Amino acid sequence: MYAATPDDWHEINRARWDERVPIHAAGDFYDLDAFLAGQDALRDFELVEVGDVTGRSLLHLQCHIGVDTLSWARHGAAQVVGLDFSEPAVETARGLARSLGLPQERAAFVTADVHDAAQAVPDSSYDIVYTGLGALNWLPDVCRWAEIAASLVTPGGFLYLAEFHPLTDCMDDTNGSTVTYDYFSRDAWVDESPGTYADLDAVTVHNGSVEWQHPVGEVVSALAAAGLRIEFLHEHDASLFPRYPVLERHPDGYYRFPADRPRIPMMYSIKASRPVSG
Ligand SMILES: C[S@@+](CC[C@H](N)C(=O)[O-])C[C@H]1O[C@@H](n2cnc3c(N)ncnc32)[C@H](O)[C@@H]1O
Repeated sequence: MYAATPDDWHEINRARWDERVPIHAAGDFYDLDAFLAGQDALRDFELVEVGDVTGRSLLHLQCHIGVDTLSWARHGAAQVVGLDFSEPAVETARGLARSLGLPQERAAFVTADVHDAAQAVPDSSYDIVYTGLGALNWLPDVCRWAEIAASLVTPGGFLYLAEFHPLTDCMDDTNGSTVTYDYFSRDAWVDESPGTYADLDAVTVHNGSVEWQHPVGEVVSALAAAGLRIEFLHEHDASLFPRYPVLERHPDGYYRFPADRPRIPMMYSIKASRPVSG
């Protein structure tokens, strides 16, 4: 339900994530054995939209257990840095990097709040700042996030963001066809839910969560106000998971509305570059 932001929102969220890390590391959703054997964790549209990362430095904000971060390294990034506020997540990511034989200079992981990223990461800026699906909803202030993220982009480099579309959280949970929740709500969404998207039946005790929705226009405007130039904003008609029971799984692994149903965007992606001067 929408509610005032609890003072301890940060601790509530971190406890939730810390508890879910071992479940994610052991489960089929992230399938770490397959990942270590070479399976790519990145989505096909991300690979196309980010383009060739060979020889580039990449900072992944809110990297979770690092499978996306390390996938960028496997695609040729010269140096990847992952940041997350969950110590167990960062420890898991470090273990994966060791298993892949990637030294600290190629793949480093730091435990820090994203708001402290500028002080926490080893370098002052990166060719690519990347943030992936399910990250922004954990942050209360998208303008503050955009300033920090943009400050870490090297002149001539870019920020790339892939996210679930906030419109999906406004529609009814069954059919995704009726506007049910306010798109522009400023309140926190405060919830108690056991398990995790990676294992709905997992037994968990730290079940609180405090999240916020950020209209796409606010995200774009925040990035522009932080000095980045918007290269594109793409909206995608698919989701990574069955957000509504009516969605159908396609051979490409994405979930979409049946062909006879009007569509809404369920994910979006943004590329925003930092001009070489200015
Ligand atoms: C849904 S996960 C990101 C998922 C990622 N795309 C993946 O599938 O691996 C969100 C991550 O954000 C992290 N997180 C949440 N709030 C944060 C904050 N304030 N600072 C840093 N990390 C945070 C959580 O620990 C979690 O690992």
